[in-house]
Amino acid sequence: MMLEQIKSITSEIDNVVINSKDDLENYKLKYLVKKGLIQGLLLQMKDVPKEEKKEVGMLLNVLKKKAEAIYDEFENKFKEQEANTPTIDLTLPGRVSNIGSKHPVTQTIDLMIEIFRDMGFAVAEGPDIEDSYHNFDALNFPPDHPARDMQDTFFIKSDNEELVLRTHTSPVQIRVMENMKAPIKTIMPGRVYRNEALDATHLAEFHQIEGLYIDENVSMSELKAMMMTFAKKLYGDNLEFRFRPSFFPFTEPSAEMDIRRPGTKKWMEVVGCGMVHPNVLRAGGIDPEKYSGFAFGFGIERITMIRTSLDDIRALYENDIRVLKQF
Ligand code: PHE
Repeated sequence: MMLEQIKSITSEIDNVVINSKDDLENYKLKYLVKKGLIQGLLLQMKDVPKEEKKEVGMLLNVLKKKAEAIYDEFENKFKEQEANTPTIDLTLPGRVSNIGSKHPVTQTIDLMIEIFRDMGFAVAEGPDIEDSYHNFDALNFPPDHPARDMQDTFFIKSDNEELVLRTHTSPVQIRVMENMKAPIKTIMPGRVYRNEALDATHLAEFHQIEGLYIDENVSMSELKAMMMTFAKKLYGDNLEFRFRPSFFPFTEPSAEMDIRRPGTKKWMEVVGCGMVHPNVLRAGGIDPEKYSGFAFGFGIERITMIRTSLDDIRALYENDIRVLKQF
């Protein structure tokens, strides 16, 4: 009886298949624990007749040693495998984080500031909520000018003075003149507001960069040269542009520059400019007999449209990440 059992268990463990730590655990539970098969045989030793005891005991001992050796062998093997397996699963897909970028309009502002800084301009800023003196009067707007109308301008309720959301960055010209003596060479980026119907080239809230250059003997030809130099620095030599005479209360003479949108026949107005009106110099505390100067105001969204080839200005503010991340 005992001999047969020993033989059968011996052949079992000779052929045992252990492929995993689970298999090994099951093997241990079946053969090696206190309630396992081998211990069970050892308990039966007391019933074995005396004359067989020696042989059975020896065979049982061999079986036990063998069973333990198999266990040790696999335990070591799995330990080694674990030590050699990296704890990082290199086959898992990586975690992708979306990297943000500057808004195309901010990029244009940065770029324009850089170009004008190279041409010697300082940077200044003024308030978005402006008094009508700086937005209109000091800029030589006559009292009945249509821009003073509710139709074009957002007025802000105030008891003691007339406040507006500035309709252009030109009031910052006055603030700069009030705070500095000539010569002045400053650009003034900022947000402006107009009570305007929206379309592909118009927004009610947009950005401008104002420029003011005041010194002795500043001429209109310098203004034109500077606008051309700037445009070429921004878009390259193949750019097509044209100057048209225009009118602003605060410049005389006045002009506008259009740029041909690349790949199209369409012209787009991008900057209003002109020689600073003597009344404006006076309002800023500068003697028009001694100094002259020019001013300009770029529409930044329009420059951005040309830079990005977007043909609808509204696309810049719909915040569709698929549009914005292209730039
Ligand atoms: N302020 C004008 C506008 O908003 C632009 C301009 C600025 C024109 C400076 C002349 C000089 O249209």
